[in-house]
Amino acid sequence: MNREDFPILNQGLIYLDNSATTLKPKCVVDKMVDYYTNYTSNIHRGDYSNAIKTNQAYDQVRDIVKDFINAKDSSEIVYTTGATESLNMIALSFFKQNLNKDDEVLITKSEHASNVLPWLVLEKEKQIKVDYIPLNDEYELTVENVLKKITPKTKVISIAHISNVIGDIRDIESIGKICKEKNIYFVVDAAQSVSHIPIDVEKANVSFLAFSAHKMLGPTGVGILYGKKELLEKMEPLKYGGGMNQNFESTGDYDLKAAPIKLEAGTPPIAEVIGLGEAIKYIQSIGVEKIHQHEYELKKYLVNELEKIPNIVLYNKNSKSGIVTFNLKGIFSQDTSIYLNHYNIAIRAGNHCAKILKDDLNIKNTCRISIYLYNTKEEMDRVIEVLKQSKDIFKVVI
Ligand code: ALA
Repeated sequence: MNREDFPILNQGLIYLDNSATTLKPKCVVDKMVDYYTNYTSNIHRGDYSNAIKTNQAYDQVRDIVKDFINAKDSSEIVYTTGATESLNMIALSFFKQNLNKDDEVLITKSEHASNVLPWLVLEKEKQIKVDYIPLNDEYELTVENVLKKITPKTKVISIAHISNVIGDIRDIESIGKICKEKNIYFVVDAAQSVSHIPIDVEKANVSFLAFSAHKMLGPTGVGILYGKKELLEKMEPLKYGGGMNQNFESTGDYDLKAAPIKLEAGTPPIAEVIGLGEAIKYIQSIGVEKIHQHEYELKKYLVNELEKIPNIVLYNKNSKSGIVTFNLKGIFSQDTSIYLNHYNIAIRAGNHCAKILKDDLNIKNTCRISIYLYNTKEEMDRVIEVLKQSKDIFKVVI
């Protein structure tokens, strides 16, 4: 990995907010600029050379994504605006029609808002029941607890592959196997995992998967909804308009195209899809397993050193991703984040959109360091050094 690929790092920035969004390599930005500068055109509407070039650049990304997550067919890949839209579509465009009163959806208290709120909406609208699989003493999700929570009414299990606060990696292959045996739909929010650990949707028997490009070196405004072909065919569009219809008449008759196109009304984020393709190629050129190894090694090193600092509370010492969640004793998390910013260190503080995790964690706000492929041991040393001097925090934060 070449840090020079990320010009923003030349500013002396120590960027450790990768769970919020990752930095973008120059090749991704250049690819998008090339589209805007040299061949801008809409997709699937023009017969001129630039339009054909755009079609090719845009359409081939479906295959790149398909191979990246090992889907069976590129028609199982829907372009959305991000993981949030994907998860909303799963709940509101599929399960709204396919769940009945008293059916149970199991999630956890460490889910991100996008994997809680759409289910709570269905709970109100359809009188389904949303229930929470208990987390263990380290706030992690275990397969054992999943099994214990399943009842004959359980129709859906919807979980993050990696939680965005605790950073625990959920064993989706084992949970997917259970879902298959018990005929339960399995929804996976891969926003925090897809560019950090390998994902195989076939092996894990995933019904639906959601992720965003901007958390995987790509642009904002585009994401992916993966769905098994037979499920996407049954999904109702959330949006209607150009591109997704076969035909419509003044009599009121209309026909829609097959999935995924029927789920992609209007002009899509073309440059962003092209940028996503380039981001995936960049990740593949390094290898997801190698990325995971790198960030986990840095996490272990950081945790080991932070444990030696008496006024630090760590919440997820043992989780296996690159996320470190902590507080300085008696200090509001945002003050810690402002303090670190004084030294050009970017982290996130707050509830991280996982607002019901406080029920288990007994604290609302934490500081989160999230590591990615361009971070270094020297950067960890700087964070450790700055946190060691944190008794001076209010000389800096005023
Ligand atoms: N879900 C993103 C985060 O964890 C925004 O920061």
